Amino acid sequence: MAPNPHNGSNPSNRWKAKWALITGASAGIGWALAEQLAARGAHLVLTARRTDRLQELAAALAGKHGVKVEIFAADLARPEAPGEIHGFTTGKGIDVELLVNNAGFGVYGYTHEAPESRLLEMVQVNCSAVLHLTRLYLPAMVARRHGDVLIVASTAAFQAVPFISAYAATKAFDLIFAEGIAEEVRQFGVRVCALCPGSTNTEFQQVARQPDRAFRYAETAEKVARVGLEGLERGKSCVISGAKNRWMVTSERLAPRSFVAHMAAKVMGPQSTK
Ligand SMILES: NC(=O)c1ccc[n+]([C@@H]2O[C@H](COP(=O)([O-])OP(=O)(O)OC[C@H]3O[C@@H](n4cnc5c(N)ncnc54)[C@H](OP(=O)(O)O)[C@@H]3O)[C@@H](O)[C@H]2O)c1
Repeated sequence: MAPNPHNGSNPSNRWKAKWALITGASAGIGWALAEQLAARGAHLVLTARRTDRLQELAAALAGKHGVKVEIFAADLARPEAPGEIHGFTTGKGIDVELLVNNAGFGVYGYTHEAPESRLLEMVQVNCSAVLHLTRLYLPAMVARRHGDVLIVASTAAFQAVPFISAYAATKAFDLIFAEGIAEEVRQFGVRVCALCPGSTNTEFQQVARQPDRAFRYAETAEKVARVGLEGLERGKSCVISGAKNRWMVTSERLAPRSFVAHMAAKVMGPQSTK
């Protein structure tokens, strides 16, 4: 049988010797995406706030796969950060072939009790920085008639999720934005895909201070990363990781939205024993 270029066990050369920029590369899904892209021969620009983590990853990937790795520390809660990242890559003459908007975090609890500053930072990192970086890197991709953008959304993007309401809304932004621009730029040879993971075993839960029960059936970051890259290669504008998550999203579409939100509140609420 002929090898399938889209099969995860036999990845294509799509990004070999090309540059990929990954936000949130210091942990979790971003770290796994960096490992998988380096294994495919992609050169990497890694960004996040924790420089020690980025240095460790850069050294490991450059040593193991012989790829070039640049790191750039940036706090995406600062509105200037996307412009600084873009300035860094253009200053080095790097043409970013794949932009991975992965950095993000959640804030769990009653919205009326959550620190305002944390909620607003979340919108900046999860939405504004995604929009800004995409707007900065898309023109060159359109001009050269190729390039890819992966935007990490979530299964939380498909419905209201009480007690992590603002986070779910930011992920709905990511999903709808990705699906929209995917249609705009397809004609220019540029692919855009929203990756929608369900619960994934990363530092997310600890950062969001979210209870354990939502993470009982968590997937690995490696699996989620693989699904995202395969979805992008197949030209999908949205990919949901995991059969159980796909089933959940599909079945929720059939139920009244208010019912879905009500049931989600029962599962997510601080008093829940489910
Ligand atoms: N884990 C899940 O269950 C799950 C499910 C669905 C979707 N997602 C999405 O997956 C993406 C990756 O999350 P993860 O699960 O891998 O979580 P994670 O392990 O906590 O990693 C989050 C990454 O984002 C970076 N980041 C956070 N705030 C930042 C800021 N202000 N500036 C720059 N970088 C920042 C972190 O780097 P530094 O701390 O070093 O800055 C880290 O590299 C997020 O967009 C998340 O919404 C996660």
